Amino acid sequence: MKVRAIMAALAATGLMVGASAAQAAGESLEVLHWWTSGGESKAIGVLKDDMTKQGYTWKDFAVAGGAGAAAMTALRSQVIAGNPPSAAQIKGPLIKEWADQDVLVDINSAAKSENWQKNLPPEIDTIMRAGKKDGDYYAAPFSVHRVNWLYINKAALDKAGGKVPTTWDEFFTVADKMKAAGIMPIAMGGQPWQDLTLWEDVVLSQGAPFYKKAIVDLDQATLTGPQMHKVFDTVRKIQGYFDAGRNGRDWNLATAMVINNKAGMQFMGDWAKGEFANANKKPGVDYVCAPVPGTDKAYTFNVDSFVFFKEKGQDKATAGQLALAKTIMSPAFQEQFSLYKGSIPVRLGVSMAKFDDCAKKSYADEQTALKAGGYVPSLAHGMAQSDAVAGAITDVVTKFMNSNESTDDAIKALANAAKTK
Ligand code: GAL
Repeated sequence: MKVRAIMAALAATGLMVGASAAQAAGESLEVLHWWTSGGESKAIGVLKDDMTKQGYTWKDFAVAGGAGAAAMTALRSQVIAGNPPSAAQIKGPLIKEWADQDVLVDINSAAKSENWQKNLPPEIDTIMRAGKKDGDYYAAPFSVHRVNWLYINKAALDKAGGKVPTTWDEFFTVADKMKAAGIMPIAMGGQPWQDLTLWEDVVLSQGAPFYKKAIVDLDQATLTGPQMHKVFDTVRKIQGYFDAGRNGRDWNLATAMVINNKAGMQFMGDWAKGEFANANKKPGVDYVCAPVPGTDKAYTFNVDSFVFFKEKGQDKATAGQLALAKTIMSPAFQEQFSLYKGSIPVRLGVSMAKFDDCAKKSYADEQTALKAGGYVPSLAHGMAQSDAVAGAITDVVTKFMNSNESTDDAIKALANAAKTK
């Protein structure tokens, strides 16, 4: 382990010329992530192949479970047992929570030699620096996912009149028409994070300023006011269109229902597009991607990233960890990963020429939202609040969506959850 730390230090200062192949051949990288669906595994497979070509040994530590709740539990026990992975999928404020525990190595030499500061939007650059502008880099970003999407099966939409809904009233009209045509209107999964994903979509449909006050600022008056009542009431109405079999259903199985003409629509971030692409389905032909009703000017962002753990006796990133960070941010990887994953590159200046119309729309809408103040962090995907606050709000929403609780009671619980320290 000592040798590894020395080699890494040499590599970091650029003194290890010619030795990197030998170092690489000896280094194995254990990588913890939750990318196990069809589209997700294709995307992470690009990184595995790339690192293998560079001479590293990839030890895959995949923990299934959308949005990573199970992966985070596995990570905590590995770290407590003194056996952290070389790299793990961590994002948003959680990067800072782990960095504050002094268990991460910085990846400054990779970030500085490739000028990440210039090549990332400032909002994202700060997150990679554990929340500090101009601080050390602790994370390497993969891509930008937009969360506020509605996926619609094209044939089902045509049977329901062909008009993409842009308001909740139009949405309910389409859902009713699908129902009348014998089509299950909504494919919904059954896990707490999927409940929260839908709920935050509906919060966003009240406007980005409302979303920011409620979800970023946790403003009590906003959390308990009339617009929040409307949010819960709308969620309740949407639930009326779910099928009985949603309990425990994974998000990608819900996507498969839309792909295979078993259901009309799904609310999901654009990792769902990775599933459509993996099934050779084309936007505009087989399916339609549209912003969630009422959210066309806004953009809930979700940026995946890896952090790098100190192993015993190690205080600097190893050559392998730095190579991993550099590869993740390289333009060629950024392009291929997002083509499979459904996202768009987070690195600025990567060409969008090979991307489909949904990705191009995501890119254009991101630019508009950035300028107009509509670019907001996703709560359901770990970008907006600490784990504790996000967890408390998730409990409130999921309880509401899995019981007959009244909106008034849910709002009281929400106001309390927002006070979680
Ligand atoms: C998100 C993650 C995405 C996607 C999704 C479902 O939280 O950021 O990359 O994989 O979970 O697993």
